[in-house]
Amino acid sequence: MAAAGSAVGLGNIWRFPYSAGQNGGGAFVIVYLFFVAVIGFSVMLTEFAVGRRKSLAAVGAFKTVDRRWTFAGVLGVLSGFLIMGFYPVVGGWALAYIVKAPGLIANPATIGDTFGAFISNPVQPLIWMVAFLLLNVVIVARGVSAGIEAAGKVLMPLLFGILILIAVRGLMLPGAMAGMSFLFTPDFSKINGTVVLAALGQAFFSLSLGMGCMITYGSYLNKEENLIENAAIVTAMDTGVALLAGIAMFPAMFAFGMEPAAGPGLVFVVVPTIFAEMGGMGSFFGVLFFVALTVAALTSSVSLLEVCVAYLIDEKGMDRKMAVLSTSGVMAVLCVLASLSIGGVGPTLFDKGAFDIFDLLTDKVFLAIGGMLLCIFAGWRLNKDELKAEITNEGKIAFGMFELWYNLVKYVIPVTVALVAFSGIQSGFEGGSGPIMILGIVIIEYLD
Ligand code: TRP
Repeated sequence: MAAAGSAVGLGNIWRFPYSAGQNGGGAFVIVYLFFVAVIGFSVMLTEFAVGRRKSLAAVGAFKTVDRRWTFAGVLGVLSGFLIMGFYPVVGGWALAYIVKAPGLIANPATIGDTFGAFISNPVQPLIWMVAFLLLNVVIVARGVSAGIEAAGKVLMPLLFGILILIAVRGLMLPGAMAGMSFLFTPDFSKINGTVVLAALGQAFFSLSLGMGCMITYGSYLNKEENLIENAAIVTAMDTGVALLAGIAMFPAMFAFGMEPAAGPGLVFVVVPTIFAEMGGMGSFFGVLFFVALTVAALTSSVSLLEVCVAYLIDEKGMDRKMAVLSTSGVMAVLCVLASLSIGGVGPTLFDKGAFDIFDLLTDKVFLAIGGMLLCIFAGWRLNKDELKAEITNEGKIAFGMFELWYNLVKYVIPVTVALVAFSGIQSGFEGGSGPIMILGIVIIEYLD
């Protein structure tokens, strides 16, 4: 359940719908589903298996096998910092909307403009971001995620329920079916390098893969747990929530005549608009939705923060409080840059602000490379029999597709990720990410 809590978050409800909207709808969705089923599931199983086998968090799991592989774990820690350089900004928006939703729902005509004005305001979103980050700090500093997990157990099903309610309401609006066909009828001519890379990045981001998060969770699983089943359940739940979020957004958007490629504001504009249509109860459900969204974001962000904190505790010998404070301090600075960049303030690189750079770098570059490195590590550095023993619980569980999985991990996934990254980089950012990537690798080697 903790792994599912990490996976289900802003990636599903905020990011999936707008990425689908910007990348051609059905074409993106079908490629995404294919990557989730073939690559996502296999990588998650690999992360669980490596983590449980080595009983160590990300960096340690690589390091005990071969010191030269430490960099692969450290790359994950770096990804964690970068994701936490923008995730709390969006978490802050969700938190703010708990308070703002009733006012917006009472005045539907202002919803779109209010969102735009809010996120580009230099000060307001910073206060909410800091509040969201502080919630993370309190949870992780105590080293007890029990509270947030308990909240997640109640609020995640609630979030699911509210999404169903929104979806049903949206589907009843006139013109809603156009949204369903946008989302589920693939126009294959729209598939290109950019769309395929976006779909791969979304699969890794949404499933919390490619940075050692699931290695860490795998290390907590006991030897009786069925890893295959666990990986399948987490993958299915995460994908189910993403699709449901899509079904909740697009029919309503088409009915309201909104632009599917509206971008990062999508969920913050569409959801209040739908609730405004519902009359009296709308405001109540609106508040509940943003409470649940905030908790879903928190159960994900604490997993990101924990990976960075665990690294400093395990590898650098810091005590927990110090590790949490220093990590979150760095994250707060990154988040300030990210938040300000939305209003056009601050440094840019290749014409993009900090928010976009952190987002691009992580889900389109670092996570995919992290996943690829893990597969190469498992396929070429670890022993095949050892992996088989771990996944089948020393032969107690049958896994008929072991050979298929093994070959995917050893050959197919590394080659596919490399090809996708290459074609996406070529068609997408006109060479811009090449130098950034090299810079990243240099930093990592230096840290190592
Ligand atoms: N999967 C989370 C979401 O969808 C975000 C997340 C948490 C994540 N931990 C991660 C992404 C590790 C990549 C790697 O919101």
